[in-house]
Amino acid sequence: MTSENRPTLHDATRGRVLFGGDYNPEQWPEETWHEDVRLMRDASVTSVTLGVFSWAKLEPTPGAREFGWLDRLMDLMHDNGIGVVLATPTSSPPPWLGRLHPDTLPRTEDGRTEWWGGRQHFSHSSATYRRYAAAITEDLAARYGTHPALTLWHINNEYCTYDYGDEAAAAFRRWLRDRYGTLDALNTAWGTAFWSQGYDTWDGVLPPRTPHYLSNPTQVLDFRRFTSDMLLECYTAERDIVARHTPHIPVTTNFMPLFFGVDAWRWAEEEDVVSVDLYPDPRDPLGPQHGALVQDLTRSQARGPWMLMEQAAGAVDWRGVNHPKPRGMNRLWSLQAVARGADAVCYFQWRQSRQGAEKFHSGMVGHAGERGRTYQETRQLGADLARIGPEAAGGGVRADIAVLHDWHAWWAGSQPGRLSDRVDHPVVLHAWHRALWEADLTTDFAHPEHDLSGYRLVVVPQLYLLTDAAIDNLLAYVRGGGTLVSGFLTGVADEDDRVRTGGMDARLRELFGIRTLHEWWPLEQGETVACDGFAGTLWSEEIEADEDTADETIPYKGGELDGLPAVLRAGRAWYVSTLPEPDALRALLARIAAGAGVRPVLDGLPADVEAVRRGELLFLLHHGCEPVTVEVPGTHTDLLTGATVTGTLTLGRYGAAVLRP
Ligand code: GLA
Repeated sequence: MTSENRPTLHDATRGRVLFGGDYNPEQWPEETWHEDVRLMRDASVTSVTLGVFSWAKLEPTPGAREFGWLDRLMDLMHDNGIGVVLATPTSSPPPWLGRLHPDTLPRTEDGRTEWWGGRQHFSHSSATYRRYAAAITEDLAARYGTHPALTLWHINNEYCTYDYGDEAAAAFRRWLRDRYGTLDALNTAWGTAFWSQGYDTWDGVLPPRTPHYLSNPTQVLDFRRFTSDMLLECYTAERDIVARHTPHIPVTTNFMPLFFGVDAWRWAEEEDVVSVDLYPDPRDPLGPQHGALVQDLTRSQARGPWMLMEQAAGAVDWRGVNHPKPRGMNRLWSLQAVARGADAVCYFQWRQSRQGAEKFHSGMVGHAGERGRTYQETRQLGADLARIGPEAAGGGVRADIAVLHDWHAWWAGSQPGRLSDRVDHPVVLHAWHRALWEADLTTDFAHPEHDLSGYRLVVVPQLYLLTDAAIDNLLAYVRGGGTLVSGFLTGVADEDDRVRTGGMDARLRELFGIRTLHEWWPLEQGETVACDGFAGTLWSEEIEADEDTADETIPYKGGELDGLPAVLRAGRAWYVSTLPEPDALRALLARIAAGAGVRPVLDGLPADVEAVRRGELLFLLHHGCEPVTVEVPGTHTDLLTGATVTGTLTLGRYGAAVLRP
């Protein structure tokens, strides 16, 4: 965050990998707390998160304070050597707040009120909400700031609530005045000449409430920026309170994975510890790749070790059909997080609830209790993490490749009124990351305006919107000797979502060797376009190469685009105008990476085995069910088993090894 002297995740972990989860003891009688602590110790739990949804318990009536139960829990945890991540309870206000102060309740775009009875029913712009949230935060910080169990502050939970109500509208206008200064500037940026939308007074400007037909896209884009900023203000207001009381205790708030609603690059700058909640689908063969993507992104936001704040020990309850994790998967995916830089492996939640909306969501202790497989696997994982933690924690993950991602490009590029609603930013991002993941190439993520000079290869799956500064950055990167590869629909719009002249920024066209971008040709579901040696999916483009600068092209074959470049290269800059099928994209990126001097983590890995280096450790993770043999040059010790590994290693179903040379 702001000051260099702020504490870090290391201050909470003290060189271990933390293990534990959200603990909601208010759902249980006090006898159960003692049973919980016995099991926590048995399972090597080192950390619990308290208070995430405790507002009504802490403040049962306006202004009241009920801290006795939390005092006892903080002491109980400390007496048992378990650290506490203490949450501010502000993501779920008590019913009295909404009843007495309806202005704290958010409104949807069509004017519906989001009532209490669920959670996250607060308006980020409500002065009343903010006042009550600050007061409870202040009192929590004052009471527990010196408690020896306190290791980390957890502000709110998964900030995500939109608000289109009147107080939010006033805040939106203030935000717009700061951004644009004058109405003229706003009218220009929003292109209000289109459809007679010119504003004559600030009072006329609203959030993009449900229109008769298509909202102004720049208004929507700015509303997304505004919402992210307002939620961030809620976070920083609480952060500043706890930081004032406890300058030595780090502060975090937990992100949802690759969540659309908040600009996590911007938010990460305001956190001492970057944390994320991650729930890959156990039935999805690409679940581990989704995990790897979120982990790489979170590590990059943290610029170092990060915290897996929540995952599921078994099933979640919010997919249509919810499957448990098969035996071994929970351990494997947890080790994957550590491999990719996590210094904490935590869960939602410790003990599975018996009541409430999430009673069928797994916990580290499931309904089957101590004898259940889920708890037994929790125990094994706790022991594994205790073993490898001191060697793994704090270690860096080195990547020579950066994948660029930007929320503003995502927001601008996912509105209606486009040529194809099948082009979904996360789908494209996953496809490109998958190609690199399957090629055993370790990747960071970066923002398009970050310093990229430390990377040999920069990959842009798709950045529909690029600021002038970002374009300067990409050009400087290539000029400085870097290799750049970009996917389609990149550099189309400026930061006001105005289409750049020629359909793609002129300097980028020149960089990639494109003379003219004639037309975009989106593809239907299941439709492919033949290219020389592979098939393209999702999208294609009618591009004319600049013969003076283009060095290499892979053409479309047949059809309307016959002979035109599907892929083209000018010097070290590559442009891919379709989404090649997975094998083809993998082969292409592996070739480009090799040309840029980037090597896979290990050569000749079996298909289901993922390899990651963290510090001096080599993690091998087997995502398949049939035993495989992996060639590992040299002699290593497997920290999980203590065995010496020389030359080869066999991994069984969902097996893992953590090798130290
Ligand atoms: C998120 C929330 C938790 C819980 C889980 C369920 O991570 O933070 O409170 O709802 O989802 O998967």
